[in-house]
Amino acid sequence: MSDWLKPHVIASAPGRVNLIGEHIDFSQGFVLPFAIADRTTAKIRKRSDDLIRIRSAQRPDAVINTSLSELTPLGGGDWERYVLGVIWSLKIEQGVDIEIDGRVPLGAGLSSSAALECGVAVGLNQLFGLNLNKKELALLTQKAENDYVGVPCGIMDQSVSLMAESGSALLLDCRDLTTTLIPFDLAASELELLVIDTQVHHALVDGGYAERRSNCESAAQKLGVTSMRDLSSQLLHESKGLLTEHEFLRARHAVTEIARVATAVELLKAKNFVELGRVITASHHSLRDDYEVSCPELNCAVDTALAHGALGARMVGGGFGGSAIALVAQDQMVAMQSAIAQAFHSAGYLAPRFFTSLPSDGARVDLDLSSI
Ligand code: GLA
Repeated sequence: MSDWLKPHVIASAPGRVNLIGEHIDFSQGFVLPFAIADRTTAKIRKRSDDLIRIRSAQRPDAVINTSLSELTPLGGGDWERYVLGVIWSLKIEQGVDIEIDGRVPLGAGLSSSAALECGVAVGLNQLFGLNLNKKELALLTQKAENDYVGVPCGIMDQSVSLMAESGSALLLDCRDLTTTLIPFDLAASELELLVIDTQVHHALVDGGYAERRSNCESAAQKLGVTSMRDLSSQLLHESKGLLTEHEFLRARHAVTEIARVATAVELLKAKNFVELGRVITASHHSLRDDYEVSCPELNCAVDTALAHGALGARMVGGGFGGSAIALVAQDQMVAMQSAIAQAFHSAGYLAPRFFTSLPSDGARVDLDLSSI
């Protein structure tokens, strides 16, 4: 076991918060996430055989033992599937020992799975000299999650975990993965972004995500466009009669959300946080009413935040639970948290967890001893 202590490469990758641009990455839209400071670290050591051993600092007793020949897409398992999926999608041909230290809060909608995939991918890329760029790594880690783990996610989480830079939000064009860094310095305006983890994860999450994604795809097909990205508000309204009610509502969210991202970028550049807050709240209303992926706990977090002076608030990520964000004046942060905790208590919900984070760096190699 002492070999576990001698990694050849150490790499790490962050979780994310999405400022705006929700449920439009698979519609070739624009999204505006940033990386949080919490990271997942992968210590990786090459083996001389084809065995794969994985363990995690969070569960040191449970060592996964398998081999390259046993990699099976959609084969089931637990969190280690995300690691195995990356080994599979990067087509690694030599055994490895991997030790994970996951510091991104689990189940909070902060993309702990993308942090895990990207930390492992960047480490393997370095260790095996694969020379894959960040865009290629984003597509391969998404492939691991889609085709190996079986989660039909878009490209946002992996892209921001790989490409983010500290001090900025990342404007990502999900059509071609080009990026623009948008300076995001709330502290200079005496603001903070409060992340409210509702601690709930409704069973609807997996089927609900896929169903809405397919609503968007069938709407695009009926309207003769490649994706929601190519759908104008005018065409959508003129063609309403061709769509089912669900298709129309999901498409209306996608079209308006893509427009909100463009507005948010301009407001962020102008440091107009009051208007930015309004756009963030409008995103929540669209996700709640048109896309129907919110839930009572997320609505309670958002409504309470707004009632106590937040400039804007909305659910983030896939929905049906997970986290909400609120744009809050620094001197209101303490009162805001106790108001939300109180509202949850009164409603009989689990106690929420609170986080804040500055925009942080994307994935990186922290140590490389592979050539020694
Ligand atoms: C999840 C998915 C992302 C994205 C968001 C919603 O986090 O992994 O690809 O679709 O939901 O914006």
